[in-house]
Amino acid sequence: MRPSILFVLLGAGRTLSASATGVLTQPLPSGIPITSYPFVPSPSPSSEPPIPGVYPLTSPKNPPSVENSALVPNIAPAWGVAYKKAKAKVATFTLEQKVNITTGVGWQGGRCVGNTPPVGDFPGLCLEDSPLGVIRADFVTAFPAAINAATTWKRSLLRARGVAMGQEHVGKGVNIVLGPMMNLGRIAQAGRNWEGFGADPFLASTGAYETILGLQSAGVQACAKHYINNEQENRRSQSSSNVDDRTQHEIYAAPFLRSVMAGLASVMCSKNLVNGTHACENNSTLNGILKHEFGFQGFVMSEWSGQYSTISAITGLDMTMPGDITFNSGTSYFGANLTAYVQNNTIPEARVDDMATRILAAWYLLGQDSPNYPKTNFNVFQPLDEATNEHVDVQDNHGVLVREIGAASAVLLKNVNGALPFKKPRRLVIIGSDAAPALIAGPNEFSDQGGVDGTLAMGWGSGTAWFTYLISPYEALQARARKDHTSFSWYFDDFNLVGAANAAVQKDVAIVFVQSDSGEEYITVDGNVGDRNNLTAWHNGDALVKAVAAQNKNTIVVVNSVGPVIVDPWIDHPNVTAVVWAGLAGTEAGNALVDILYGDVNPSGRLPYTIAKSPSDYSAQLATGGTGDQILNITYTEGLFIDYRHFDAANIAPRFEFGFGLSYTTFKYTDLSISAVGGSPDQDKSFEANWAAGKPSPQVVGASTALWLHRPAFEVSFTVQNAGKVAGTEIPQLYLHFPPHTGEPPSVLRGFTDVELQPGQAQRVTITLSRYDLSIWDVVSQSWIRSSGSFSLSVGASSRDFRLKGTIPL
Ligand code: BGC
Repeated sequence: MRPSILFVLLGAGRTLSASATGVLTQPLPSGIPITSYPFVPSPSPSSEPPIPGVYPLTSPKNPPSVENSALVPNIAPAWGVAYKKAKAKVATFTLEQKVNITTGVGWQGGRCVGNTPPVGDFPGLCLEDSPLGVIRADFVTAFPAAINAATTWKRSLLRARGVAMGQEHVGKGVNIVLGPMMNLGRIAQAGRNWEGFGADPFLASTGAYETILGLQSAGVQACAKHYINNEQENRRSQSSSNVDDRTQHEIYAAPFLRSVMAGLASVMCSKNLVNGTHACENNSTLNGILKHEFGFQGFVMSEWSGQYSTISAITGLDMTMPGDITFNSGTSYFGANLTAYVQNNTIPEARVDDMATRILAAWYLLGQDSPNYPKTNFNVFQPLDEATNEHVDVQDNHGVLVREIGAASAVLLKNVNGALPFKKPRRLVIIGSDAAPALIAGPNEFSDQGGVDGTLAMGWGSGTAWFTYLISPYEALQARARKDHTSFSWYFDDFNLVGAANAAVQKDVAIVFVQSDSGEEYITVDGNVGDRNNLTAWHNGDALVKAVAAQNKNTIVVVNSVGPVIVDPWIDHPNVTAVVWAGLAGTEAGNALVDILYGDVNPSGRLPYTIAKSPSDYSAQLATGGTGDQILNITYTEGLFIDYRHFDAANIAPRFEFGFGLSYTTFKYTDLSISAVGGSPDQDKSFEANWAAGKPSPQVVGASTALWLHRPAFEVSFTVQNAGKVAGTEIPQLYLHFPPHTGEPPSVLRGFTDVELQPGQAQRVTITLSRYDLSIWDVVSQSWIRSSGSFSLSVGASSRDFRLKGTIPL
């Protein structure tokens, strides 16, 4: 059964005051007395037995190989072991000690972005940003942003990036990395989209899943954030995302579900309200969806200052971060208040036991109780303090991986007249400040990357890391040009159009670099308060391209952007012969670009979002307005129809569709076959029969992550052949077409893979579909069900380039 539903009782925006003792006098919403709240523990670790080859017994330290992505890892037994240890430890603690496990030490109270205190022989925890590296620490790698990792559509690179980032966090003595971040790109302008994996729930789920398996295999605890519906920066703490239950399950909660299946250690609830209740005190999303439906066994931490009450302990919050009510207030909603709430019988002590157990279980799950686990050896708040910074170099050879991901995430959007790849161009000019190293003070000129005056390789905010070095396009291209004796020049003034045009005269090729930046709302850059003010190229980019294209018949545009940019002002210009969408490629950005431009790597990146012809073509727009304490209502009226789902349904032609990307070769698809996967374990047969009959499944704890629901049910096989003259990688994509009466979008991504092929080579490829992939969320029965009717699918090279079609033998 579901835990009792309390969320309706807990209103938003209440005021709280701290008494002299630090204990809150907490007025609750009108008419609701502080009384005793029941607590139903959920979940207890499942006892589903592992079946070799079907559900391998998995410790997060030893996940299934990335090649076998269809295997569903069974992490429950590992959780079981961790819970046993955690319960034994918690049994030795006093109430105050248990509360201390759940309560951060306060803003800047330790060396990491968040810290919990030592309790007994438990050493406390270091919680540290970011989803692309170790923030504000030296001798680390600035990895490509998650949006670029997703743009590769390569599980192996998503995993490898997770592993490498995990190793760096462990090397610095971090217990919990505050990532991955997997909000969906509902709003094209939303400031933090680049920290996530794009605008499709399947792609974002895969990105999150592989990243978490990678991070945790290295030994660091992952934290999936921001849970949930934090889809824009404007008024992120003072807006309510109002989302219907089906959309919530099928779109926004999907990456979190998949994260739980990866053995996720922790979740960060978001700053916004969800359907009128703060995300960090939302019984429906925390206890209901996350802990009950998904069977999440780790712990939920609050967003930094995203907690609004002590009673949020009852509605599912397990840890407060950074611990104080407002930064440095000296008060906490947990701490002395949580103790008092237990002592006056408002909150059962069993709930505090559960909170502490979850936190310790996650620590044991990753083996962080080992005496060899590195101690924190840096200090984010005092990076110049020699006593607390040991300057440990954790970079290893991760730059090689960064370069590989950078190249694999470049999307070739246009290529005419054989413009690319380069064949020893004689005279090459690069134009635009985005090609250049930072002009004044190196790659870390702006705090948390809150500004840009050179090339753009990440956005801004808490999702960043310092660049130990940054290879700009200028440096990489000049080095490469020397090898060919190319005459190489540059022009970095974005606003002197005459100068730029003159620089492009008598050149065999002119590359114009444009960019578009965004980030987190605590920093404003050029008037953009986190979210972008528009989808136009920054720094005069459109005019620059047009000025150069007017002079040079072989103008190539490179775009470094956080997300979609409207390219219509110049995309069809006959002198714009090629466009490379390079995104945010991290510390090796320039080298990765050279690999693509010179054909050392054949482009295989695919767009993780739609590039529209006009901003108004997107189904959801940035919600603006709202002042003071007002709560801005953001109603997700578009429902399931975000990004390409809307373009398809409304028959709007995109400029470049979701999943699109060119190659220097071409691929042929043939011989589609679809077959059911047999051999179900006995324990699953009745569930499967029930599902096949279109009936709901039992609402047990973990019903949505049940192994039977996610194991392969159908195999879709086809042959891909490289029909061109150079080796290349194709990204075959599988889109499902639900029966129309289901109300699903015309096509939804349900699978992809990557195939590397020599010229002429053909390979049989298989993508599997699970029952979950074929289900819709039924709001009445609160269950994943199979709809009646015929399910067809298409396999192809993008969401609009279908090559093979078939029907699922259901
Ligand atoms: C951000 C989180 C981040 C946390 C700690 C918050 O403001 O939204 O993404 O992990 O701060 O820096």
